[in-house]
Amino acid sequence: MLSEAPSTEPLRAGVVGLGYAGEQHLKNFARVPGVEPVALAGLERDRLRELGGRYGVQDLYTSWEDLVSREDLDIVSIGAPNHLHAPIALAALEGGRHVLCEKPLARNGAEAQQIVEAARSADRAVHIAFTQRERGDVQALKRHVEEGNLGRVYHSKATWMRRNGIPGMGGWFTSKELAGGGPLIDLGVHMVDMALYLMGEPKVESVSCATYAELGPQGRGGWAGSGLMSGENPYEVEDLATAFVRLSGGATLVLEAGWAVYRESSDDFGVTLYGTDGGAEMKVKNYGTTDTVRIFTDVAGVPAVVTPEIEPRIGHLAVVRRFVETIHGGDWKGQHGEDGLDRARIIDACYESALQNREVSMGEVVRGGSGYR
Ligand SMILES: NC(=O)c1ccc[n+]([C@@H]2O[C@H](COP(=O)([O-])OP(=O)(O)OC[C@H]3O[C@@H](n4cnc5c(N)ncnc54)[C@H](O)[C@@H]3O)[C@@H](O)[C@H]2O)c1
Repeated sequence: MLSEAPSTEPLRAGVVGLGYAGEQHLKNFARVPGVEPVALAGLERDRLRELGGRYGVQDLYTSWEDLVSREDLDIVSIGAPNHLHAPIALAALEGGRHVLCEKPLARNGAEAQQIVEAARSADRAVHIAFTQRERGDVQALKRHVEEGNLGRVYHSKATWMRRNGIPGMGGWFTSKELAGGGPLIDLGVHMVDMALYLMGEPKVESVSCATYAELGPQGRGGWAGSGLMSGENPYEVEDLATAFVRLSGGATLVLEAGWAVYRESSDDFGVTLYGTDGGAEMKVKNYGTTDTVRIFTDVAGVPAVVTPEIEPRIGHLAVVRRFVETIHGGDWKGQHGEDGLDRARIIDACYESALQNREVSMGEVVRGGSGYR
């Protein structure tokens, strides 16, 4: 059943945030047909004027509340620090706007649940910018899995690791209160999303996680030039997290997310899948897009390696295009941020497991609500 009659008028979007994420939203609202950016909010006045000029947005605000209270917006997009995702999304949904939210959907499952419930009751769409799953190599891998070339995938590994990659050292990224966590909620959420997406969305049953804060608290591992709000606050989050995740059907996932560890000086992520008829490895170095995927199989009993064709795709462009198409199509049933809530609960379970130094089942986290943070 359609939620609303399909519309053809360009959608009017307001963007909150002037950092990397906000600019990606702005740029792609200006580029994708059927939508136009009409309002922009952020704290850095020079950057606000500069981005407004570059993307032709006249209505500029230094507070998100002023942008969200406009009555003529169809879309509010959120490229703000994690602690603002829930307040902005809830206000926008209450005003009847659709929401495009950066990952993570919120700092924890309780906030994410509030957003999903508000979106359902307002009958509005919430999409999360899980941009990495939109990459051409991930999409090629997904096709191989869906065509059955790997058989049943029973084990996977997903990692995102940096040598010196702590963003905005001393700013919101490294504040537990403002960010909700460190590399696990920042990078790990992309990799959990990617692995579960590729494996066909098995349910997470339990997690056993450990977190470490070895370099960040000593002021080491900072990534120069990232984050607009860097400051001198104490370092409060992990700089490395690792988890063993049990999935429905007996499958497993090993996760590793680190902003700063002694390894080679690059920013690398990847996924490994082991299936009953084949395996796959995706290794992305410094956001490279070529020669990243190999599929391992047998041809007539002889080990063979396949290098799939990869279509170049830009994550934010694909996310914005799908979001705009969904709204024009008038049907967003089941697209109220449920995937973001699912990932937020998994991250919650990881932090809880690390805190308690034991394996934690998803049942404990979902029943436990918000009381453990
Ligand atoms: N999907 C991706 O590839 C990707 C990449 C980078 C960041 N992100 C996510 O995007 C979000 C923002 O990250 P970033 O790196 O762009 O951060 P950033 O610190 O560079 O930018 C945050 C922006 O929010 C604005 N802001 C803060 N408080 C505000 C307020 N009260 N009113 C209006 N604006 C306010 C700041 O002025 C700033 O412009 C985070 O949730 C992050 O996890 C996603």
